[in-house]
Amino acid sequence: MTDDAALYGDSFADVYDEWYGDMFDTEGAVQALLELAGSGPICELGVGTGRLAIPLAAAGFDVVGIDASAAMLERLAAKEPPASLTAVLGDMGSVAEVLAASASEGDGAKNSDGDCDGHSVQQQRFTLIICAFNTFLNLASEEAQQRCMGQVASLLTENGVFVVESVVPAEPEEIVTESLDESSVGHGVTVRTSTDVHSQIIRGEHLEPTATGTRRRPWAARYLRPEQFDGLASHVGLAPIERWSSWRREPFDGDSLTHITVYARA
Ligand SMILES: C[S@@+](CC[C@H](N)C(=O)[O-])C[C@H]1O[C@@H](n2cnc3c(N)ncnc32)[C@H](O)[C@@H]1O
Repeated sequence: MTDDAALYGDSFADVYDEWYGDMFDTEGAVQALLELAGSGPICELGVGTGRLAIPLAAAGFDVVGIDASAAMLERLAAKEPPASLTAVLGDMGSVAEVLAASASEGDGAKNSDGDCDGHSVQQQRFTLIICAFNTFLNLASEEAQQRCMGQVASLLTENGVFVVESVVPAEPEEIVTESLDESSVGHGVTVRTSTDVHSQIIRGEHLEPTATGTRRRPWAARYLRPEQFDGLASHVGLAPIERWSSWRREPFDGDSLTHITVYARA
């Protein structure tokens, strides 16, 4: 696993729920996801502290949540989630391999064909895979994003869907390459970013004043326009079947700041 994979989670695990907990329409998201889930199981990429996965598991679904940050998964575990929620430490860019390895370690009986080679694991497939709140952008290279999309496609059941929630970036000519802004999380936090418009990679850090100095919380992201998401999906045989601007299924248009897109097999 690369250091970058754990960068965001390790930077924000101790404050994630406090800073962001009230910012989301979690109720709307859970409702929409329950309507899309079919019979399950569900997989969440970047499960974090379990904001979505815990209520989905509590609603009766088997949920697998993958996260690259042990610190985030410790926060999730402290909430004593339902037994139907399985948390797996690993890079979502290799989610199919991580889950196969995890199944192989945890349950030899899942070996396929009874050939006992210890490596060919019966893959679990999912009716719903989720990647919420800009988490897909934490894969900070085009290669990692394309690879993740491919692994997601391989893990979906025939009628399964992949749901992505992500910010809509500014138009290319409006992208600010260097910025230092007050953060919406309060606490006097500022956010410094540096953006390469060619690679679309943003390197940022949240700067938090503390009694002993400034606490730096670094992160990296590669922003994508909605049509670029569609391009990654198309490359692996997926196509958008719905796109909303909110979890309440408000229509998406040219002024929308967020998109929630549902992908299925083309
Ligand atoms: C913005 S938080 C979202 C948490 C949760 N899904 C939610 O909606 O509240 C992003 C999460 O993705 C995880 N993450 C970032 N990059 C990852 C990667 N390459 N593989 C696995 N998890 C990753 C972070 O550790 C963090 O927990």
